[in-house]
Amino acid sequence: MPRTVEWVDGRIRLIDQTALPELRLTDVATVDALIDAIQRLVVRGAPALGAAGALGVALAAGTATGAELAAVAARLAAARPTAVNLAVGVRRALAAAPHGPDAVLDAALAVLAEDAAACRAIGARGAELLEELCGPAPLRVHTHCNAGALACVEWGTALGVVRSLHEAGRVAHVVADETRPLLQGSRITAVELSELGVPYRIVVDGAGPSIIARGLVDAVVVGADRVAANGDIANKIGTYPLALAAARAGIPFVVAAPESTLDPDTLDGAAIEIEERAPDEVLGAGVAPAGSAAWNPAFDVTPSDLVTAVVTEDRVWRP
Ligand code: MRU
Repeated sequence: MPRTVEWVDGRIRLIDQTALPELRLTDVATVDALIDAIQRLVVRGAPALGAAGALGVALAAGTATGAELAAVAARLAAARPTAVNLAVGVRRALAAAPHGPDAVLDAALAVLAEDAAACRAIGARGAELLEELCGPAPLRVHTHCNAGALACVEWGTALGVVRSLHEAGRVAHVVADETRPLLQGSRITAVELSELGVPYRIVVDGAGPSIIARGLVDAVVVGADRVAANGDIANKIGTYPLALAAARAGIPFVVAAPESTLDPDTLDGAAIEIEERAPDEVLGAGVAPAGSAAWNPAFDVTPSDLVTAVVTEDRVWRP
């Protein structure tokens, strides 16, 4: 699998995640095309958005400077509101602008390199933590959405933990929620797990909490789009019910995320903007009567008291 986001010959090369499970690469040459790709989820997942955003500023820095570049960067940072990494990546690249376009590109490439290293560290630390919490027997891990290599530059956060466990022979199987409405679980997580040779089962989102309640899962491990200062977590819609069920069942609910997803400027979950997406994504199957309304919040907030730990590249934080 190529890297999710890459800089190739002055363009951004993306794995087109709308085409998965077919592997299709697409090159993006303008900020407008990148914003479109971000909004259509061609590139998605908080760390991958951070990398794409940083490279987007590098694209623009070839032709724009000063206030003009800052305005382009602001548009890019606002392409999707919930994952803080997008704005963080944009900001990091923009900070190098006074030193010229090459410096902007270097700063953007550093975002990619740091994310790749962070994911490996998160994987190793998360695997250790799960052994401490659940013991050494092979684990049944429940995950939601896709927090794998395709949500990052490579390796993954929640699936990075699964990968580290799998390398040690410590994964019995993964339960992957299909993740309505855009099916990141069955289209993307399943692709990654099957490539890695990790046994997995896909379940409908509504099955998750009762599977946990029946004692069929040892731990829930998910990624995050933003972690507020008090430890509240925004992640893909459908994460919160898993956290409730995990608390009730007395199993760990672990969040795996790079430090760049921790947002000290957002005090708590109530202050996190939840992206509202088009009703068509919910109604798309054409099953509901014509004229039906739909509501499509893309993320939910899990309060910190339901979070066993947040594992980053630097620490295990128990909020
Ligand atoms: O709408 P998406 O597919 O961008 O949502 C992605 C998620 O919710 C992921 O769980 C999150 O970004 C963490 S990715 C390491």
